[in-house]
Amino acid sequence: MERQRFPRDDRRIRELDADLERQFADRLVLCPTLDRKTVSFQGNKQQPKYRWFKYKEGFSSVLVRFLISEYFDALPKRILDPFAGSGTTLLTACELGIDADGIELLPIAREIIEVRSRVESGLTSEEIDRLQFWQTVKPWQSISLRQPLHYLKTTDGAYSPETEAAIERYLFAMTSERDRVAKLLRFVLLCILESVSFTRKDGQYLRWDYRAQRQRRTGKFNKGKILDLDGAIVSKLAQILEDIELELFNASRISSVPNGKITLFPGSCLDILPTLADKSYDAIITSPPYCNRYDYTRTYALELALLGVTETEMRQLRQAMLSCTVENKEKTLLQNWKSAIAAADSQVLLQAILEDLEAQKQAKRLNNSGIPRMVKGYFYEMAAVIFESARVLQPGGLMFVVNDNVRYAGVDISVDTILSDLARHLGFAIVSILVLPASKGNSSQQMGQHGRKPLRKCVYIWRKR
Ligand SMILES: C[S@@+](CC[C@H](N)C(=O)[O-])C[C@H]1O[C@@H](n2cnc3c(N)ncnc32)[C@H](O)[C@@H]1O
Repeated sequence: MERQRFPRDDRRIRELDADLERQFADRLVLCPTLDRKTVSFQGNKQQPKYRWFKYKEGFSSVLVRFLISEYFDALPKRILDPFAGSGTTLLTACELGIDADGIELLPIAREIIEVRSRVESGLTSEEIDRLQFWQTVKPWQSISLRQPLHYLKTTDGAYSPETEAAIERYLFAMTSERDRVAKLLRFVLLCILESVSFTRKDGQYLRWDYRAQRQRRTGKFNKGKILDLDGAIVSKLAQILEDIELELFNASRISSVPNGKITLFPGSCLDILPTLADKSYDAIITSPPYCNRYDYTRTYALELALLGVTETEMRQLRQAMLSCTVENKEKTLLQNWKSAIAAADSQVLLQAILEDLEAQKQAKRLNNSGIPRMVKGYFYEMAAVIFESARVLQPGGLMFVVNDNVRYAGVDISVDTILSDLARHLGFAIVSILVLPASKGNSSQQMGQHGRKPLRKCVYIWRKR
């Protein structure tokens, strides 16, 4: 978050913010049932299958089940998640027997969804045997041949020489397996890469441990225990096999509904949403990137490198992301989205914030001059996503959005009320904005620095009119 270095007058923004909050006063509801754990990956940590890959930006399967059971009398038939991430919405829907479509830009997130949905549709006993073989025999230990590891500029030096050699032997040993098993084994490696590296995912970037050899490391950051590859692979395989066995055991005892079908569209939702048919979904359950400068391409660089993503592709992915980093350039929005652009143009609080950020930039008071462009891009692109979401939902269909408010240069940006205001101009009625009890950003340091109330974390619920 930006540091406010000069006192300045932000009364107009605060008045407009208070006014918008008053307009939604009866919709902003404190929801004690939802805690930060449920609305984040924390809630998946103990959940069989969901716990395999730690997608830190995800929400939990429990949240998806809660929203469906709380807001629908009968199960929806078809659900969409335009920012599918690791696929929590899709996989939970599939387990409930609901068909689910997802759009996702990042190859690592898509890989998680593909492997998980394959497991959902059932592995053969031969495939399970191969995984057990790898867990017990550890075939990569007994070979000397290696498959060279692909690096990106940002990942060079991420492993110790011993770990790098072990990864390369593992990759080579994988090549003698059938495609389906090899893909599962690569997924196991993806799940543990961070834990065997000198890095830790830290929101906006990868943090480097002081033990790394590379020049660029700064400070004395100590990530704690760095796991050895063999142990990490064996325990991840054990966890995966345990969950698969549990699933088979449950399936033999409980007669369950047939799984729903998962369809994944790779690419940007700004390109794919316009290709989806009108009124084709009963619900949308999603969480876009937050407007918080988190750069998924940087934090998932180890995994993207392992998947063979090149530097050029990395840059393309970064630009195609919904604008949420200071590096995002302005995107060209479609002619069709005139009403979405007009809604954002006439949102007075948003415009006051953008004007203020621009003034702060001119006065060189922002620690990064890309912030105004990012915030503008975020809201205009989200307006387009909301417009398209209204179009693809059935009348009466529900849209659920998990998101955080943010603060720049000491100004709170009420993402929840601004987006809800855009939504009501773009075809939605606002059912509620569920506010989580323990808000983020209420550290004594921040409170002291800005004298502001804590930032809200919410689940917005909108109904298509
Ligand atoms: C907050 S995460 C979603 C996490 C998901 N709910 C889960 O439980 O795993 C947001 C996702 O949006 C994806 N994303 C960002 N920009 C996108 C775009 N333009 N189109 C599609 N996906 C995008 C990111 O790669 C990220 O996986």
